[in-house]
Amino acid sequence: MQRTARAQPNIALIKYWGKRDSGLNLPAVGSISITLDTLYTEMSIELDPTLEADVLRINDEPAPGMLPRVSACIDSVLGATRERARIDSHGNFPVAAGLASSASAFAACVVAADALDATERSRATLANLAGRASGSAARSLFGGFVELANREDSVHVESLLDAGEWPLEVVVAITSEHEKAVGSGEAMEISRRTSPFYGRWLAEQDADLDTARQAIAARDVDALGTIAEHNCLKMHSVMWTSRPPLVYWTAATIACMETVRRLRDAGTPVFFTIDAGPQVKAVCEPSAAGAVEAALAATPGVLRTLRTPLGEGARLVNQA
Ligand code: PMV
Repeated sequence: MQRTARAQPNIALIKYWGKRDSGLNLPAVGSISITLDTLYTEMSIELDPTLEADVLRINDEPAPGMLPRVSACIDSVLGATRERARIDSHGNFPVAAGLASSASAFAACVVAADALDATERSRATLANLAGRASGSAARSLFGGFVELANREDSVHVESLLDAGEWPLEVVVAITSEHEKAVGSGEAMEISRRTSPFYGRWLAEQDADLDTARQAIAARDVDALGTIAEHNCLKMHSVMWTSRPPLVYWTAATIACMETVRRLRDAGTPVFFTIDAGPQVKAVCEPSAAGAVEAALAATPGVLRTLRTPLGEGARLVNQA
């Protein structure tokens, strides 16, 4: 029996950085994200009683390094005594470069695994299971504007607005295709232990979430951009002031931020956000997306750009 699910990455506007429980992988703060549309991961899982161990291929290459996390994610859905699985994952964007490939992969993983038995699991359950594998993956179960809120020993994830209710677009400026040096899980732990700003970061997050929620309800791109850029720069301040410092930016990352500021000063409704990688994501009104993409593509150090509207949450794509 084989099931395939597709999920898109999401980009946080109010960021998650830091864990309150690393065993259960529970985030220290809530977050708000947007789910993308045209970038995706498709994961097929086939249970096969003749296999002695799980087998994972990513983009047609064996991927033993990622296998333990993917196997554990399938176990979390189907139980560890399940039949072994042949897992095939395909994505149409670079892996591990701050583009949340783990979010789309683990969101697709839980949806495909869920369809392999008769148990009916709620989206809330699947979001929590995806979140155990990668905190941000919980958000890719939902489309449009998504809020992840902390509960006592779990997370609550819901859509604030569907993609069609406020159709913003995202332009991603790719400035490096290298995998990041320090993965986000390890980096968050370094920040928690060593950054003098970590406590302030946690203390201010609820206010930032309130401000962003109001801006989304009012569909106010200026207000959303102001709080999203502030929150992003605070997260990177925590990273920079960690020991050792976690600096994911390159000169091109900063040049892209300048491009976005210049466009905004000239009246274009656009703002930036940056995750644990060197890429810059510019969020804008659809009418501005062409100009934003052209300006970022012309910025020194930008290798290429991707452009996408907002999309829906993870879903099953076949019943083979
Ligand atoms: O879910 P993880 O472990 O890949 O961490 C994601 C962290 C950021 O992308 C930097 C912020 C976020 O909220 O997505």
